[in-house]
Amino acid sequence: MRVVLGVAGGIAAYKVCALLRLLTEGGHDVTVVPTAAALKFVGAPTWAALSGKPVHTEVWSDITEVPHVRLGQQADLVIVAPATADLLARAATGQADDLLTNVLLTARCPVVMAPAMHTEMWEHPATQANVATLSERGVHIVPPASGRLTGADTGPGRLPEPEDLYAVCVRELGRAARAGAAPHGIPDPAVTTALTGRRVVVSAGGTREPLDPVRYLGNRSSGKQGYALAAVAARLGAEVTLVSSATLAAPEGVRVVPVETALEMRTVMLAEAAGADVVVMAAAVADFRPANYTEHKIKKSHEGAGDDSAPVVELVRNPDILAELVRTRRDTERPVIVGFAAETGDASGGVLDLGRAKLARKGCDLLVVNEVGPDKTFGREDNTVHILRRGTDDVIDVGPASKSVVAEEIWAAVAHVLARG
Ligand code: CTP
Repeated sequence: MRVVLGVAGGIAAYKVCALLRLLTEGGHDVTVVPTAAALKFVGAPTWAALSGKPVHTEVWSDITEVPHVRLGQQADLVIVAPATADLLARAATGQADDLLTNVLLTARCPVVMAPAMHTEMWEHPATQANVATLSERGVHIVPPASGRLTGADTGPGRLPEPEDLYAVCVRELGRAARAGAAPHGIPDPAVTTALTGRRVVVSAGGTREPLDPVRYLGNRSSGKQGYALAAVAARLGAEVTLVSSATLAAPEGVRVVPVETALEMRTVMLAEAAGADVVVMAAAVADFRPANYTEHKIKKSHEGAGDDSAPVVELVRNPDILAELVRTRRDTERPVIVGFAAETGDASGGVLDLGRAKLARKGCDLLVVNEVGPDKTFGREDNTVHILRRGTDDVIDVGPASKSVVAEEIWAAVAHVLARG
């Protein structure tokens, strides 16, 4: 996402270097627009080095690119931190006397301001009136924290911690995406209406393959990405069925069909896919199941073995549900089918190479490639994926982002497949 980080002239500018780092490490494309006063606290080389981009304060640089208009128009989010009393006053009265105030007038995306100043300046009626004006116009004001100020004095006026400001940015970007804003803030009707009234079936969770009444073979999938997909599709007006082997709370407006094993999931998915417009196999289906189910709990000293021996579990292959869904849709090209690929990468290739090979093998329309590992993806709130489309070399890189934002990007890709018919 494109973020403009406006920095006004306050000592808290030094804390904003850490915010910039969080934003760039979060995969965002950040342009820093400091005011002239901000450069007295932290110099242009620091902002340029941390953002990887040149830094300007006036409207007179790169004039052919019209930066005073373009930066604001193309941004997905503008955050001003610290927002000083002077900056708040200039923004509230619509002045356009430097690059940052021009950006604020041209931005149509969410705008966040984090005021920071001395307590007396913050509490002055003029500042409070400016904050009220900006807030009424839809600017998200992050109230200053209370605590130690520049000198020995304390009180409200401190810039919140960079991590807290970053969390506000992620939330605002997610909210804008959920409201159907395209990456440059212009609502994309092709995405917001594509799922309205469509029948969507999503599978989620890791299947459990029982060995005996107590034990099962399972995997690390939490089901969160599948649930986020179902929740977003319902919000976009789809009629959603979630075929789930996870135990999370049902998203609003979603019909959940609980299943446990790969065989149960196969039966339900094949039945639900008939008549669906889109099917997403987000579930981590076990490729193998125990060949035999033991009716009673397998005891430590199992039948016919010595006391310290262990049982040998024989496995058999489970059906490949995704491949079967692709085979059974025949030539109608409906439903649109989305697969997931959980890859760690191996000697034969990186995750993208393995993903492309899997897309060709499975024959689905879109493949969402997930890099997985003990500290990646599983159970986490965020995700990083690459969306591949059959018959093209296109790769849409998403994240790291919340699983809701990833879901929105996946539905946007589905919307384009639906639109092309
Ligand atoms: N899948 C399926 N049925 C299976 C195994 C996987 O429908 N028995 C689906 C998953 O829901 C996912 C896709 O196939 O959408 C890819 O799953 P993945 O585990 O990455 O691939 P596998 O086909 O199992 O291949 P491998 O384990 O060799 O990578």
